[in-house]
Formats: sequence, C-alpha cells, structure tokens
Amino acid sequence: MIEVHTAKDIQKLAKNYRKKGKTIGFVPTMGFLHEGHMSLVKKARKDNDIVVMSIFVNPMQFGPGEDYDAYPRDLERDRTLAEEGGVDVLFTPGAEEMYQQESTVIVNVKKRTDVLCGRSREGHFDGVATVLTKLFNLTSPTRVYFGMKDAQQVAVVDGLLNDFFMDIELIPVDTMREDDGLAKSSRNVNLSASERSEAPALYQALQQGARLIREGERNPDAIKKEIRTLLEKTSGVIDYADIYSYPDLETMETLSGKIIIAVAVQFSKARLIDNIIVNIPLDQKEDL
Ligand code: PAJ
Repeated sequence: MIEVHTAKDIQKLAKNYRKKGKTIGFVPTMGFLHEGHMSLVKKARKDNDIVVMSIFVNPMQFGPGEDYDAYPRDLERDRTLAEEGGVDVLFTPGAEEMYQQESTVIVNVKKRTDVLCGRSREGHFDGVATVLTKLFNLTSPTRVYFGMKDAQQVAVVDGLLNDFFMDIELIPVDTMREDDGLAKSSRNVNLSASERSEAPALYQALQQGARLIREGERNPDAIKKEIRTLLEKTSGVIDYADIYSYPDLETMETLSGKIIIAVAVQFSKARLIDNIIVNIPLDQKEDL
C-alpha cells in the first residue's frame, strides 16, 4: 500500500493509473475504520484495478457545536486495516492541504438537504459536496463507493455527479450492522454502556415501520407515530423520525414507490442515524 499526504502527489498518481487504462475505485472516509467502511473497500476491490481510500476528517462538514474535535481518530490502526483490506493507495491529507487558503468557491447543495440531517446540520452537505468535489478531482475515480447508512449523503452525491456531469459511477453499498442490528459507526464508541444497550432501538423502530407497511399501512404519520413511541423509550433525544420518497426526499401523503424511513437520535456524546429503504408495492423477494 502506498500512502500519500499531498494533493499534488495523489493527483499525479491517480492520473497515471488512468493513463495506463486502469480503473480506480475510490472510497472516501473520515477514518476510525470499521467493517462498514471495509465493506465498501471489499466491493471496490472486486470491481476495480486500483482501490484508493481517503481518510480526512473534513472540518467544513461539521457545524459550530458539533463533534469535530471529539471525532474519533486512530490513523495507525486505520493504516493496518486499509492495507489488510486491499487498499492500494491511502490518501491522508491534513486540513491545511485540503483547504489551502480561504475558499473562493464552495459547492452549495440546493435540493435534498432541507430534510433529515440537512435540516438539523446546516451547511453540512455543502461541506460534504465541496470536499468530495476536491477529492474526486484528486483521485480521478472510475467508481465511487458510498454506504446507504448515510442515505441522504448518497442522494446528494447522486445529484452532484449528475448536475456537474462528472463521469463517475456511484455505487451504493448496504448498511453493515452489529449482531443486534445497530448500524456500525465510528461514533458508536462514544456511547455509554447503557446507551449502547438502548441503541438497537433505532433499527427495531425502522423494522417496525417496515412491518406496518407490509401489513398495508400507507399513511406516513401513523408509521412515524409508532416509530417515535419506540424511540422515546431510549434515554436519547429524537432529532427526527421521518419518511420521504427516495432519492428525491420529498414529502408524501400516501406512501408509494421507493421510500426511506430514517431516524436520528442524539445520545449524550453521540448522535446516531439509521434508515431503511422500502419499495412499495413490496418486492416479494425483498427481505425487510
Ligand atoms: P464516514 O462517516 O467515515 O463514512 C465513510 C463511508 O462509509 C460513507 O460512505 C458511509 O456511508 C460508509 N459507512 C459508514 N458506516 C457504514 C455502515 N455501517 N455500513 C456501510 N457503510 C458505512 O461519510 C463520510 O465519512 C464523509 O461524509 C465523507 C463522505 C468521507 C466526506 O467527508
């Protein structure tokens, strides 16, 4: 595995691979790697000649009172995991490398951001779209890999690639979970022991929502109410429990087509998010 720290080096390296006709699968991350990240690497490894991973805790996507400083970091361990997972090139820039001077241009996401995490994290997706535009320009990817754990992020990246005619294929990857259903996340380490035992409630609530749909419920308010009741049993504060069309993230009065049920709960030191996508009418083969 090669590790590079500067924009110039990664750009030169990636361009050279593409010139030689090699395909590049790019997995952007903020590090503190877990099996969720590694499932993206595994898929990228299968599909491409070269796998590039970036580890960069992007200050621009964290709001003023958010956990930028508390965001967990362990580059040494990440290096080992990346190498074991088959990453060819690891890009680990510092903040001063990615934001060299005061920005002259940033990417402003206009749609799909007034709901869910976009509503409670103002400017978050501008930060994500801006850093990804930089990273895509540096890594010349053939394909980019994103987890459905952050389904709104996938919807925003879909818009970014389409609107700016970026010749990059977006590959969404299913959410990896712990045995008890909790979605794997770098932030799970910031849960207390009792919060950790409550946290599977998020996925259980989502599954209950899917069950109601399977039983014929099509009124989003009825489903949201039941989900809230389940989440209220935790010690966390519900940020949202919502249902929208996917990927457009528009409000629906009667559920139909592809929809997302998404929840966010703020615990004392960690904000957890989770979601599931449901196709209505239900696909018989689909395992909800
Ligand atoms: P980060 O939270 O480190 O996540 C990196 C990628 O891993 C994202 O695409 C995320 O959806 C995926 N991921 C996280 N947990 C997962 C899980 N349990 N199962 C499957 N995939 C999972 O998302 C970001 O970083 C940043 O916003 C970034 C895209 C790097 C831009 O800064």
